[in-house]
Amino acid sequence: MRLFDVYTLFNITPVKAKGSWLWDISGQKYLDLYGGHAVISIGHSHPHYIQALTDQLNKISFYSNSVQNPLQEQLAEKLGQFSGYPDYQLFLCNSGAEANENAMKVASFVTGRKKIVAFKKSFHGRTSGAVAVTDNPKIVASFNAGHDVIFLPMNDEQAFLEAVDEDVAAVIIEGIQGVGGIQLPEDSFLVFLEQQCQKNNILLILDEIQSGYGRTGKFFAHQYAGIRPHLITMAKGMGNGFPVGGVLIHGDIKPWPGMLGTTFGGNYLAGAACLAVLEVMESENLLPNATQMGAYLMAELIGVAGVQKLRGRGLIIGFDLADEKKHVRNNLLLEHKIFVGEAKPNTIRLLPSLALNKNEIDIFIAALKKELL
Ligand SMILES: Cc1ncc(COP(=O)(O)O)c(C=O)c1O
Repeated sequence: MRLFDVYTLFNITPVKAKGSWLWDISGQKYLDLYGGHAVISIGHSHPHYIQALTDQLNKISFYSNSVQNPLQEQLAEKLGQFSGYPDYQLFLCNSGAEANENAMKVASFVTGRKKIVAFKKSFHGRTSGAVAVTDNPKIVASFNAGHDVIFLPMNDEQAFLEAVDEDVAAVIIEGIQGVGGIQLPEDSFLVFLEQQCQKNNILLILDEIQSGYGRTGKFFAHQYAGIRPHLITMAKGMGNGFPVGGVLIHGDIKPWPGMLGTTFGGNYLAGAACLAVLEVMESENLLPNATQMGAYLMAELIGVAGVQKLRGRGLIIGFDLADEKKHVRNNLLLEHKIFVGEAKPNTIRLLPSLALNKNEIDIFIAALKKELL
């Protein structure tokens, strides 16, 4: 059997990883400033994470959501405290798309409405509703296109006021747009959305799947704006590679039996992985580290000629390159052995582990300077 060929692959076969580093099958070492799409939060193969998953595997790895699972309770408690949302409720699932799908479903249940407001350049995943609110017609099949969705320009209050009506169930926005090229909503725009949603009985969904989990130095990117959305979606950094997603749900939203559900969501291994991630974030002060290393990386990038439109917060950073420097991302990987991300057409995206250090940043800056000479 052949694989369904949907990915463009680099000819690299990683077999080992530690911290911010990967090794391929021939022993070649790579610096990882992308974390496999922002997934590696506490660093590859962290010993505490390995121990927690190994211990759990030796006890019990799976049963359904029809029995007591204290790990889920412990995770909700710890996540509530650590994120600043102790009064919210946690629903666990398996991926980012699923988290968004469930958040929009909750909003529709609560409001009895079905229209969703999303923003230009958004990416929210590939399941039916999530892809319908993603601003990329190339990945939307006609099966997915039946949802009631409008796309508005981000940071445009007037456009919002003109478009919003009583059919809108939810507004969904990324804490910082990732796939769209590290585009930041203005703090004042998030405050405006919060106010408008309150006023019109619309639920506000913050997609923090890429921008959350400590990446900006705060637990969620939207916390810079001081807002409290009704629903917050998470995935990526949550399990440091173990597939898991989740929705934080405002305390006023009442669940009923069967309202949401999943077979795998919240399983024992996911619970152990997520708890270990939060424990490491706390004990190793990874959020302050993301702030400090982000500031250092930004300051260094400002000094590199050829880096354009530098933007980001903490360790979610983007910058543009001139058209004739399009090859730089590939050169960084193939010649300097450094993984970075991209966004079309010419954006470099940096999404390293939150445990990144100065030495690793210096290696990257030296390589980038050589490429942009
Ligand atoms: C902001 C955002 N939302 C949702 C998703 C979808 O997550 P997943 O691929 O886990 O379904 C992604 C993935 O890149 C994302 O960046």
